[in-house]
Amino acid sequence: MFLITAANGNQGKLLMPKLAAAGLPVRALVRTEQSGDVLRALPGVEVMVGDMSEPGVLERAMEGVSSVYHIGPVLHPREREIGFAAVDAAKAAGVRHFVFSSVLHAILTDLVQHEIKRDVEEHLLSSDLEYTILQPSNYMSPLKLQPVFREGVFRLSWSLDRLQSMVDLDDVTDVVVEVLTNGERHYGATYELVGRGRYDAHELGRIISQVLGREIPVEEIDGDEYLKAFIGDRDPAAFTHEARVLRAITARYSAHDFVGNPNVLTWLLGREPTSFAQFVEREYRHYQARAAAPAGA
Ligand SMILES: NC(=O)c1ccc[n+]([C@@H]2O[C@H](COP(=O)([O-])OP(=O)(O)OC[C@H]3O[C@@H](n4cnc5c(N)ncnc54)[C@H](OP(=O)(O)O)[C@@H]3O)[C@@H](O)[C@H]2O)c1
Repeated sequence: MFLITAANGNQGKLLMPKLAAAGLPVRALVRTEQSGDVLRALPGVEVMVGDMSEPGVLERAMEGVSSVYHIGPVLHPREREIGFAAVDAAKAAGVRHFVFSSVLHAILTDLVQHEIKRDVEEHLLSSDLEYTILQPSNYMSPLKLQPVFREGVFRLSWSLDRLQSMVDLDDVTDVVVEVLTNGERHYGATYELVGRGRYDAHELGRIISQVLGREIPVEEIDGDEYLKAFIGDRDPAAFTHEARVLRAITARYSAHDFVGNPNVLTWLLGREPTSFAQFVEREYRHYQARAAAPAGA
């Protein structure tokens, strides 16, 4: 049995159907019944609804599991503790292989969510579990493109002139399937998952404009504007961790490029990683197909 945490998130939405299609027995851990219902529709998927930050949940999730893919929920104030608890619960349950969704350059301590993953990596390395650590660069996330298609503007909350390497989540989840199903081949490995190219926001905007066939302006927004949109009408005092993470992202990505190398991902995939242009073309096709579909389809 494979356990996937945060199973209906950005990665999970792509990963779960791939695991189900491969006929693999999978347990999906999600927080809400709503996500549970989505995943129950997939063949061979057992759903567990529970909050990873609550005592006992990860312990129960690990029962009878041979391999786990742990994704720490993004912006969660207890992401570090959850990561430690996942490793400890896996160890106690006799899990054979712990695959950890980390991040490119987890050693960067000025990025809060990187430092957390660095600490979880250290905890994993000290657990004596068989492990594989995956370090994706910034996601080419379909969610990030939806507002661009809808509103015709590409907005980023850091300097438009800084370079970024990115990775397609379809490629990342192909690697996860390979690492989980051929576990032993990947024991003891740490893989940087980075697509080809380094782009500043102007270049990303040019590529999007080319695919859409119309001019898409690029706009730098204040990090706090992004934060306000995230918090909505909830009490900001309850979101100090989230604020720290998002402000650190704006500061780091505005002060330095964030780049990596595609060699490892190319080797793992046995093909070229998806380029940003291919990603935008694919997502725009999906967007147009959804827009053309009759309501409710
Ligand atoms: N964004 C990037 O560019 C990037 C790049 C590299 C690494 N990362 C890292 O990738 C990780 C996030 O991956 P992702 O984007 O695939 O995940 P995600 O979209 O943040 O995960 C959402 C999923 O997590 C579940 N979840 C959230 N809190 C939970 C809790 N307390 N207990 C149980 N389940 C919970 C949600 O369940 P419900 O749907 O039921 O609420 C949902 O299924 C983060 O650690 C992030 O730092 C992100």
